[in-house]
Amino acid sequence: MAILHSSLSKSLSQIDSWASIPNGISGKAANGNFRVLFYNDHIARVTASQHETFEEFSYAVIANPKNTEFSTNEDATHLHIKSKHFNISIDKAHTRFAFTTKQNAVINEDDTFGISWNGDQVTTYKKLQQGERFIGLGEKTGPLDRRGQGYQNWNTDNFAYHSGADPLYCSTPFYIGIHNGLVYGIFLDNTFKSFVNFGASNNRFSSFSADKGDMNYYFIHGESVAEVIQHYTHLTGRMPLPPLWSIGYQQCRYSYFPDTEVQSIADTFHEKDIPADVIVFDIHYMEAYKIFTWHKEHFRDPKKLIADLQAKGFEVVVMCDPGIKVEDGYHTYEDGVKQNVFIKYPDGSNFTAQVWPGWCHFPDFTKPATRVWWKEQFKEYVSLGVKGFWNDMNEIATWGNQLPENIELDFEGNPDSMRRGRNIYGMQMARSTYEGTKALMKGKRPFNLTRAGFSGIQRYAAVWTGDNVATDEHMMLGTRMLNSMGLAGIAFCGYDVGGFVGDANPKLFARWIALGAFSPFFRGHSMVNSRDSEPWSFGEEVEEISRNYIKLRYRLMPYIYSAFYEAAQSGMPVNRSLAIYHPHDAKIYQGQYQHQYLFGANLLVAPIESYKELMKVYLPESNWFGLYDDALYSSGETIVECPPDKLPVFVKASAVLVMNQEVGNNTKHKQELLEIHVYKGENETSFTRYEDDGDSFDYEQGNFCTQQFVHNGQKQQLIIEKVKGKRNSQYKKYVVYFHGFGALENVSVNGNNKQLLSKDYRYLQPLRSFDPVGTVNEGYKINDLPYIEIPASDEDIKMQL
Ligand code: NOJ
Repeated sequence: MAILHSSLSKSLSQIDSWASIPNGISGKAANGNFRVLFYNDHIARVTASQHETFEEFSYAVIANPKNTEFSTNEDATHLHIKSKHFNISIDKAHTRFAFTTKQNAVINEDDTFGISWNGDQVTTYKKLQQGERFIGLGEKTGPLDRRGQGYQNWNTDNFAYHSGADPLYCSTPFYIGIHNGLVYGIFLDNTFKSFVNFGASNNRFSSFSADKGDMNYYFIHGESVAEVIQHYTHLTGRMPLPPLWSIGYQQCRYSYFPDTEVQSIADTFHEKDIPADVIVFDIHYMEAYKIFTWHKEHFRDPKKLIADLQAKGFEVVVMCDPGIKVEDGYHTYEDGVKQNVFIKYPDGSNFTAQVWPGWCHFPDFTKPATRVWWKEQFKEYVSLGVKGFWNDMNEIATWGNQLPENIELDFEGNPDSMRRGRNIYGMQMARSTYEGTKALMKGKRPFNLTRAGFSGIQRYAAVWTGDNVATDEHMMLGTRMLNSMGLAGIAFCGYDVGGFVGDANPKLFARWIALGAFSPFFRGHSMVNSRDSEPWSFGEEVEEISRNYIKLRYRLMPYIYSAFYEAAQSGMPVNRSLAIYHPHDAKIYQGQYQHQYLFGANLLVAPIESYKELMKVYLPESNWFGLYDDALYSSGETIVECPPDKLPVFVKASAVLVMNQEVGNNTKHKQELLEIHVYKGENETSFTRYEDDGDSFDYEQGNFCTQQFVHNGQKQQLIIEKVKGKRNSQYKKYVVYFHGFGALENVSVNGNNKQLLSKDYRYLQPLRSFDPVGTVNEGYKINDLPYIEIPASDEDIKMQL
């Protein structure tokens, strides 16, 4: 193949020399240096630079290269690196990389242009493989399969973004390629403005570019999408366990004030018997929007307010904006100037821009001293009992929305401009808030939420999708985005239920709150001057639907918390696009099915617009049960009803689902009775339930317990294993329900024959208020469901069905 004809674009060109180095190789090519480093048997980092040394610093990656078995050799045309699971060959004439399987199938290979510079901008070009699809890239609009699309990574405050808008608030330049039965991941670790092209406006390559800095990407090998995500989160980290209360329902509004309104919202949850864990204070709690102050008339006694709310079972999350008002006499400003913590113009003066409080300076979170200073500012919030912190406007959002690129950041003592800093500013703010409040909270888990972020943000905060709009299109887009964020390591993510901008109609709100109940971060929020958007604000029918789904979420807490545990352990997202389990099944990418996802391991959720009452779903691979009525579906496409009170959710055949029987007002309501739902099927499945105190870091010292449920469909056997670990389980009793087993009358429990009872069972209550006169609303129920109650045991419980 010819070398580049044009001199405008400069590729690495031929290799002049190369040598082995610890964990890899490095070499010199005609137009730059390159290096390959192994991070484990599945991860190779490829770096190319026009400078003598490579840029080593990363905010995203926390893993180090590791001793890995690999061999190198060369022939006349290629340099070969063979590692345990994949091989790399580099063609010596052009320094083009190809990653292949051990059987020599191409997983991923450079196009003719290889790694090229066009001015400062550096790009890696990859041949489009036959049938190649691309998924991931985090918070991006667009379809599940991103082939034919191109995206920019440049954290941007994008108010009321339209359904194809790009870029948004949070950038994670990590995607997964899928073709010919193979999957792989690419992570571009470069925080300059970057671009990813999946064959948009061309027919030969996918590419990823950064405006400046080294080409620095990780090729990730994996047998499955889950494995690729596991390796990506090995590099960039996994989420810490969230406080249990933070995965309950959070009620937000821009803004609830005064304090009496906050109290009334909390009381209304109780009056209406709707569980909730959080009331969020948006910007109006502050005096003139100045962070770390309280509005003296609206929030007269914050300590008492927060104590009252906590007594009612609510935790408080407060808005934290980075803009510090320039105002004499304002302590945070004066101290910040004194301590020299703010971002600077090149002439050394503090950068000033307008946001909510007026003209502001902005802390430089890339400076260690600023992070320490930031922590100090949180002392008062923490001493008042605030446990949740909401990092907003951290793209940085300023009026005018044109952040100057010449402003400078410390970058841990190696100053650089906003060109390198913009994409990581939000993450470093979230980091400062998380690390600071964690230290101040003395062993309790803070909840931290952010709008902007970069790869690795999952180590510090949950991410929500910013200022969405109250439309069906946005609700559907939101589900795709959460699924995509999950693929990019952000397991704890959510959207504003009901839509932030504009007014939801009752049907839309009903559908959205049902969907939100099956999303990782579950918060209702709406904009100033929009209509009331609490679960009871849309009439009685929607109130009942909301209560039903919020209660269902609370009942599912043991299952959901276990999914978060899995995210903390392996990076596996909570919202799992079907592409995680069925990447090579073309059906799942089709327009009407691309929103579907598994919520945790066993529940398939089929999102659908609020105005539709019938929908087509695609059920992959196995049999599935309708959650609310046990209707049995075989795999394939099927049409199901989806009236406003019914979000289609399916349980995988053979699955075991664990739930609480009772729902209290919030997640603090401890229970003694665990429901165990076993679904008939042919497969052997296992589920691990995780339990700890839900709010401390004692689990790091082993204060937790796990319990495995193994269901062998073939052998008709269920094993409820004994609880393992230091902690005693809260559950003293189990009720085991048998779904799809017909009128099962007996089971043997540890060899003893036991008679089953049966009853009508409901996941959702019928909507009382809307029984048309003279008819009985039966709602959704499972008739005569067989069950048995058994005491918890220190031994495994073996059931023969
Ligand atoms: C922008 C955020 O995206 C929104 O959720 C919040 O309500 C406003 N800022 C006001 O703080």
